[in-house]
Amino acid sequence: MGLLLYEEIGHVGILTVNRPEALNALNSAVIDELSAKIDAIALSKIRCLIVTGSGERSFVAGADISEMKDMTREEAENFSAAGNAAMEKIERLPMPVIAAVNGFALGGGLELALACDIIISSENAVFGLPEVGLGIPPGYGGVQRLARIIGIAKAKELAFTTDRIKAPEALALGLVSAVYPIEELMDAAMRMAEKISANSPMGVWAAKVVANSSVGMPLTKAAGLETPLFGECFGTTDQKQAMTAFVEKRKPEPFAGK
Ligand code: COA
Repeated sequence: MGLLLYEEIGHVGILTVNRPEALNALNSAVIDELSAKIDAIALSKIRCLIVTGSGERSFVAGADISEMKDMTREEAENFSAAGNAAMEKIERLPMPVIAAVNGFALGGGLELALACDIIISSENAVFGLPEVGLGIPPGYGGVQRLARIIGIAKAKELAFTTDRIKAPEALALGLVSAVYPIEELMDAAMRMAEKISANSPMGVWAAKVVANSSVGMPLTKAAGLETPLFGECFGTTDQKQAMTAFVEKRKPEPFAGK
């Protein structure tokens, strides 16, 4: 069995971190495989990616503590850099990424979920940043991304205290978009992924690029970001036929991605 499982169902890719014996903890081998797989997915035709973990207990229980324990400073910097690069690749994928959090999302696991565009979770999900309790800070961009979603004060609180939060609190904080019984989580993720995939790929891509690029920009600058991408969508078959269908009061044809 590989450290990652991957399958495609229609327009949707499902990527599963598969180290259930270590609650899917991210070691160097997983990060390397993840990085290579994300490169391949970036070039694929899928319209939405779901990221999850093997089993019903854990999404990803963090970076691998056994591997990190005896790292030198240089090895640790390389470990952080490789993880950060993989998270950035996920964030920059041209298609939306849904994290289906099926249990523990701790440390690097929460950071992996945060690199995705949307997080949904099972009722038994647990989120947290335990790193400072291990003598290190979060190393894969978790504090920064969390601060942008739930606000810097709450992100600092979670990072400084290592408090774990359960699914209902994560939902209330806006970290998670929806919570489902564990047995319904993947069906819910598929439904959302299929809904996204039924829309025009170029429109969805442009919306993702604009959302990601605008983070940290003043609104006056961010407001015009979409103009060239908006223009680029015009003249595509998808734009023409969908707008024509609206004017003719009928449903658009399935989007071709052209
Ligand atoms: N790195 C390496 N191994 C890990 C791991 C991690 N981050 N998280 C879990 N594991 C391993 C455990 O060592 C154990 O292996 P073993 O069966 O060979 O002893 C196995 O996964 C099951 O974990 P266990 O701790 O026995 O399960 P639990 O139900 O008692 O506790 C957790 C679950 C998630 C609360 C606990 O495993 C934990 O705190 N993990 C570390 C979380 C963390 O600090 N992550 C951030 C790292 S920077």
